[in-house]
Order: sequence, then C-alpha cells, then structure tokens
Amino acid sequence: MFMPKPLHAFALAVTLGSGAAVAEGPNLGRPIDPADIAPWDISILPDGTGLPPGGGTPAQGERIFAQKCAMCHGERGKGGVAAAVVGGGPIDRIEAPKTIANFWGYSTTVFDFIRRAMPWQQPRTLTDNEVYALTAFILAENKLIGQNDSMNADTLPKVRMPNRDGFIIRFPDEI
Ligand code: HEC
Repeated sequence: MFMPKPLHAFALAVTLGSGAAVAEGPNLGRPIDPADIAPWDISILPDGTGLPPGGGTPAQGERIFAQKCAMCHGERGKGGVAAAVVGGGPIDRIEAPKTIANFWGYSTTVFDFIRRAMPWQQPRTLTDNEVYALTAFILAENKLIGQNDSMNADTLPKVRMPNRDGFIIRFPDEI
C-alpha cells in the first residue's frame, strides 16, 4: 500500500510505542476479582442465560407492586405518571404507545429491566424473588401466563411474547 514517507514513519513509531507499553504494563492496579464483577454482571439473555435461582408468583407480585410500583405505574399497572406495564393497543401507527404486551420481544427482558432499573428512585433494592414475583404479576395481568403460574429460571424463558416475531432484521448479512 502506498503511504507518503513522513506518515509511514509516524505509523511505525506509534506501533512500536504502544507495543512496548503493553509488554511492560503501567504497573498500576491489580487483576479484578470475579467477586467484584459479579454484582455488575446482571444481563439476562432472551434464552434465560443469567437468570438467578429463586422464583415468584403473580399473587406475591401483586402485593409488592401495590407497595412499590403502583404510585408511578398506576393501580395494577394500568399507567400513571409512568408508563402502563399492563395492556396496550395495536401498534398501527408510529406514535402508538409501545408496551410490554404489544412490543417487547422477550419475557426475560421484563425480569432484567425491573432488576436493574426499578423502582425508579431505588434501583437494585429488590431481591431476586421479588423481581420474579413482579415479573409474574405483570405477565399474568397481561394474560400472558396464568394467575397461578410461578416464574423462575426454567419457566420464564418459555413465556412467548406476542410480538416475538415482530422485529425485522434489516441487514441479516451484517450479523
Ligand atoms: C418513582 C416512579 C417509579 C416507580 C416507583 C417505579 N417505576 Fe417503573 N418506571 C418509571 C419510569 C419513569 C420509567 C421509564 C419511563 C416510562 O416508561 O414511563 C419506568 C419504566 C418501567 C418499566 C418499563 C416500561 C416500558 O414499557 O418501557 C417497567 C417494566 C417498570 N418500570 C416496572 C416497575 C416496577 C415493577 C416497579 C416497582 C418495583 C416500578 N417500575 C416502580 C417510574 C417508576
């Protein structure tokens, strides 16, 4: 490849410089302990990878929702100062509200989102059992599971969301 001479020399200097730095290392810090990473490593994949032990039912979630969520999301999740987490009409125009029931592709996202972000003013304060129970309550109120279905690492990923196949991969060859 053609490179004007001064640029070529500069590129070489940068390569050598960074190589030397990596080899020697700055001698700062210490290797991170897996126990330090664990609290941050909380992503749940669509197939359920990453879901913790535990579980919960819609009835358990109903009580927690009334105490910790309804003041923003409305009674039984029907919407208040924050978005409705129950219900949702068809997405028939671009402005149509997108909800868990009409839009979200994977049930495991409900667990992931609540655990990492809710309640809004106190994120990361819920136990895993509480998050499972709240997820079960929201899914049951949306009629996506039965009122007595318990949600856990085994059952939650099997809940199929209505809009599961509603996402079009625009450039499949790029993946
Ligand atoms: C202080 C207000 C507040 C409280 C309390 C609260 N939330 Fe939220 N929640 C929000 C806001 C704000 C958003 C993001 C913007 C929006 O969707 O309105 C949100 C978003 C969400 C979403 C995503 C909704 C969507 O379709 O994008 C879920 C699910 C959710 N909250 C669940 C909960 C649960 C479960 C609780 C109780 C543990 C809770 N929230 C408590 C304010 C709150």
